[in-house]
Amino acid sequence: ICVRDNDGMPQVLVNTCRHRGNAICRADEGHATSFMCTYHGWTYDLKGALVGVPGFKEVYHEELDRENWGLIKAGQVDTFSGFIFATLDAEAPPLYEYLGEVARIGLNLLAARGDIAMVGGVGKYVIPCNWKLAADNSWDFYHPYFSHASAFMSGIGQAQPAAAGKEEPPPPSAPSGSTTRLLQTQIVALGEYGHALSGPVLTEEMANRGTYTGGGHAWRKTERAKEMLTQVGLDSFGYSNVFPNCWVAQINGQICLRMPKGPSKTEMWWFTFVDKAMSQEVRQKHINGVMHTFGPAGMLEQEDGENWEQSTIGTRGIVSREYPLNYSLNRGKGEIIDDETGPAHIKTHVNEHAQLWYYRGWADWMAAESWPELLANHSPSPQGYV
Ligand code: FES
Ligand code: FE
Repeated sequence: ICVRDNDGMPQVLVNTCRHRGNAICRADEGHATSFMCTYHGWTYDLKGALVGVPGFKEVYHEELDRENWGLIKAGQVDTFSGFIFATLDAEAPPLYEYLGEVARIGLNLLAARGDIAMVGGVGKYVIPCNWKLAADNSWDFYHPYFSHASAFMSGIGQAQPAAAGKEEPPPPSAPSGSTTRLLQTQIVALGEYGHALSGPVLTEEMANRGTYTGGGHAWRKTERAKEMLTQVGLDSFGYSNVFPNCWVAQINGQICLRMPKGPSKTEMWWFTFVDKAMSQEVRQKHINGVMHTFGPAGMLEQEDGENWEQSTIGTRGIVSREYPLNYSLNRGKGEIIDDETGPAHIKTHVNEHAQLWYYRGWADWMAAESWPELLANHSPSPQGYV
């Protein structure tokens, strides 16, 4: 994933050095002309040509054929709403088609806010968990009032009075595990290839609740947002996942890539976005707020990460792996509504429709040997009841 600024300059590039394969991942303010590998200092220009080799004359004796040691080119590179995606597979469908309406709305829940910029730097750390358990949590609105009870009691996510220009908001009033929360209306959209958007419908009370910056939801009323999101997206205050591992955390204006590093190890890559027009002071408040929510020092991420770690351990036992996990929350009761308001969707309470759909997508992907096979055999978006 890459992000570029308004001048079209990449702010983040990810590739693999040709010398010993070190990762080249670089975020900056967008005006770099070359990228140096941090291992031995080989340097590539923005098109991937190898332009600098320490000791080229003295120790390589000018014999290294630099033209043949440029970066490996992606099979396809494409953009959507300012986000740059690359795949190594030239046979994959075009990005727009692959994302479909559901994943496009997911990304637009960030892009439709207006002129946004990525905060320099990618937050990275490792959680000893299977990456699919982290993805499964993207739409889990069953856990927050249990797992995050203490974080909520501390007032996490509430407005900074100075930024919001309001009195300190009262602490959340719902007791832990309140069934009121479980019965909140949720909206779920399931897209082809395993993409999903799921979570609460934005209520007036939620829209008025403080944010880190007091920024609010006025952007949802713009013509641009209406066009980019459809009514389904405008109504959603939930989370979206671009299958398989790109979580769009709209509530905080962040994206997290869950990078698998093996069956029991996942590296989290956090990208944080801010309104370009924010003052330096408000921007800093936002960054501090999201860092205390997600990221290595994030209260929610630490609580979630511990759950994922324990689930990973708990599900790999010789005996425990013989027993299925339970995904029956609202199963069979989610009615697919296919109308003019956007992609086919479900309106219900807390549920596991997106998680089940995600694993259906995963099973399709695992069963296919190639893109043509996946295109031909993947599950169509569901109809009726799920
Ligand atoms: Fe990149 Fe050696 S691995 S310069
Ligand atoms: Fe959580």
